[in-house]
Amino acid sequence: MATKRTADIPVAELTAAQARAELKRLAAEIAEHDKRYYQDDRPVITDAEYDALRARYNAIEARFPDLRTPESLSLKVGAPPARGFAKVRHAVPMLSLDNALAEEDVVDFVARIRRFLKLGDGETVAFSAEPKIDGLSMSLRYERGALVSAATRGDGSEGEDVTANIKTLKDVPPRLAGRGIPEICEIRGEVYMTKAAFLALNERQKASGGQTFANPRNAAAGSVRQKDPAITASRPLGFFAYAWGEMSKMPADTQSGMARWFAACGFKTNPLTRLCYSVEELLAFHREIEERRASLDYDIDGVVYKVDRIDWQERLGFVSRSPRWAIAHKFPAERAMTVLKDIEIQVGRTGVLTPVGKLEPIGVGGVIVQNVTLHNEDYIRGVGGNGETLRNGRDLRIGDTVIVQRAGDVIPQIVDVVVDKRPKDAEPYHFPTRCPCPLRTKVVRETTASGAEGARSRCTGEFACPYQKIEHLKHFVSRRAFDIEGLGEKQIELFFEKGWIKEPADIFTLPERNRTIRLEQVEGYGETSVRNLFDAIEARRRISLDRFIYALGIRHVGETTALALARGYGSWRAFHDAALKVARGDPNAIAEMDALDQIGDTVIEAVKDYFGESHNRGIVERLTRQVTILDVERPKADSRIAGKTVVFTGTLEKMTREEAKALAERLGAKAAGSVSRKTDFVVAGPGAGSKLAEAHRLGIKVLSEEEWLRLVK
Ligand code: IVH
Repeated sequence: MATKRTADIPVAELTAAQARAELKRLAAEIAEHDKRYYQDDRPVITDAEYDALRARYNAIEARFPDLRTPESLSLKVGAPPARGFAKVRHAVPMLSLDNALAEEDVVDFVARIRRFLKLGDGETVAFSAEPKIDGLSMSLRYERGALVSAATRGDGSEGEDVTANIKTLKDVPPRLAGRGIPEICEIRGEVYMTKAAFLALNERQKASGGQTFANPRNAAAGSVRQKDPAITASRPLGFFAYAWGEMSKMPADTQSGMARWFAACGFKTNPLTRLCYSVEELLAFHREIEERRASLDYDIDGVVYKVDRIDWQERLGFVSRSPRWAIAHKFPAERAMTVLKDIEIQVGRTGVLTPVGKLEPIGVGGVIVQNVTLHNEDYIRGVGGNGETLRNGRDLRIGDTVIVQRAGDVIPQIVDVVVDKRPKDAEPYHFPTRCPCPLRTKVVRETTASGAEGARSRCTGEFACPYQKIEHLKHFVSRRAFDIEGLGEKQIELFFEKGWIKEPADIFTLPERNRTIRLEQVEGYGETSVRNLFDAIEARRRISLDRFIYALGIRHVGETTALALARGYGSWRAFHDAALKVARGDPNAIAEMDALDQIGDTVIEAVKDYFGESHNRGIVERLTRQVTILDVERPKADSRIAGKTVVFTGTLEKMTREEAKALAERLGAKAAGSVSRKTDFVVAGPGAGSKLAEAHRLGIKVLSEEEWLRLVK
C-alpha cells in the first residue's frame, strides 16, 4: 500500500509528531486563505473547503491539547469560528422597497395609500421624494449618544457586524451631536463610493495587482467587508442617512423632520430630497433626477417616495417584506446590442421546459450578460401570454442581433430584434416536442383553468423524468433548504447518475450504504472529504420546520411562504396533518390554511397537488424517518387578540377592511374570510348580511367597530 500523506490521515490515527506537523501546515494554509479572502477579496477555495480546513485544525487540537500554543488559531481574539463577521440581529427588521417601473405604478401607489387611509378629496398626502442611492444599506446603533454597532442589512433580520470598519467613515459621527438625544437611536442609510473614488481605486488596484471592482456599489460593499479596518479607512466611503430602526423616543413626527434631525446629529442627508404633494410632482421629480443622474458624483438607480407623516406610515404598515408607505421608482434599464447564439432548453423541477437564450457576452448596466430567459414557446414567437405582441411581433431566431435590457436593472431580457441584421438563412425556431432528457418523453402545452392552451410546455415524464428528479434534489440541498456542505449541484448530478441518490431520503442513508459504494475510491474523493461529507450530512439531520417545508419543493412555496406555513402550524405534525386534510379537500383544514397570513388560493392549490400525489407522500414519509424536524415559534401571544380568528363583515367607518385585517394580523390574530365554528368573533359594521347571520346561528360573539377598536387599542 502506498504511504498516505499526513494530510489524508484521519485525526484519530495521527501520531503526536504528525499532529504537530499537520497543525503547522494547516495554520499556514488557513492564514494564506484568510489573506486571499479578507484582504484581496479573491478566495481560491470554497467556503466549505475552508471550513473543512478549520474543522480539521480544531479536531487535531482537541485530540492533542498539549500542542496548543499561544499562537493557536483557536485562541486568537476575534478569530471567527468560521470565516466571516459576527452576526447582529436587527431590533427592527431592515426591509426592502417595492418597485415602481412605470408611471401607472406610481399612480396606483398613491391611490392605494389614499384608499387605505380613507382620505377625502380635500386631504393631501405629502411625500418625501429622495434619490435612491446605489450602495449598501447600513444600520447604525447609538446608545446614550455613542455609536455601539454598525450592521449590514443581511437577510433583513440578521446582518453582519462591521462596526470596526464603519467607525473609520468620516460621514458616521462616533457621537450624536445636539441635546436631548434619545437613549437608543438606530440610524439607517446607505454607504456608497463616489464614481471618482471608484475609478481612482480601480486604477490603484490595477497598478498594485489587486482586485478591481465592476461598479461603485461592489467597491463600497467590498470595502466595508474588510477584515482589516485600516483597509476600509483607506477607501473613500460616504454615508447618507435616510431611515431609522429602533428609537426609544421619536424626535420628529415626519420623514422630513427626521431628516432634519439626522443632519442636526451630524449626518449627511441627501440634498436633492424634496417634499411633493401629488402624483404629478412625484413624476416631475423622477424626470428631473433622471436628467441629473449622469452629472451626480454617486450612482443612483431611481428615486424613493415615502409618505411624510410617520403616524400614517404606521397605519399603512407593511406587506410581506416592504412598507405600504414607500416605493422605489426605478429608472429605465440600460440597453445593449448583441447576438443570440443559441437557444438551450432547461427542464425545471416541475417539468416545465424553459428556453434560455445564449448570448454573445455583453455588458449591460455594469454587468456581463450571457444568458437570458426566453420564458416559453410563445415568447420566442413574439406573442405574450395574453396574446399581445412582443417586440412588435418579431420572433427570435438563432443568429439574430437583439437588444438586451436589464429590467429594473436586474433581470436581463430581450426587448427587440434588429431585423435588418437577421442572417438570410436564419430559420424560425421550432420548440421541442420531446423532453431533452434521455427518456425523450412527450412535451405538452399546459392547459389553463378555462381549458384554453397555456403558454408553458411541460415534460410528461413526471416522476420518471430524470431531469425533474435531479432538479428536485438540487433544490433540496440548496443553500436555503438543507444546505449540505460538500453536496452541491455537481455532486447531486454525479450521485444521481451513479444511482446512489434517487430521492432525498437516500442522502441520509448514504453513509451506511457506503460500505458497498466506497465513495472514497471515486475520483476527487479521499478519506477526509468523504468523512467531511458524511459529517455534514449528519449535521443536517436536525432541521427547522420552515427550511424543511421549503426543501420539499412544493410549487409556489418559496422561503417566505414556507416560513409563513411553519409559523402558522408550529410543528411538522400539525402542518403535515393539515396538508393531508387539505389534499383530501377538507373544508375546515382549507379555511384554516387560508386564514394564515400570506397564504392564499395558489399555495393551497399547490399543497393540495403535492400531498394529493402518493409518490410525494412516499418521498416525504421516507424522508421524515431520517430527520428530526424542529418546531418553529409561533407569533407571540402578547396581545388580547393573539391566536384568535376574526371575521370582518359589513362596512367599517374608522378604517378600511384591508386596514382592519392588517391590524389584526399584526397583533397575532387570524383574519378569516368566512365564519365557522373556529371563528372567535365577528366584527360587523352596517350592511352586514349572511356572515352576521351565520355568526348568530353558531353563537359566535359579534362586536361593533367601536368595541373592536377598544379591544385592540
Ligand atoms: S428607505 C423600509 N430610502 O434601497 C424602507 N432606501 O430597495 C427603508 N435605498 O435596502 C429603505 N436609497 O438600501 C430608502 N433614500 C432611500 C434609499 C434607499 C437607497 C436602498 C436601501 C434599501 C433599498 C430598498
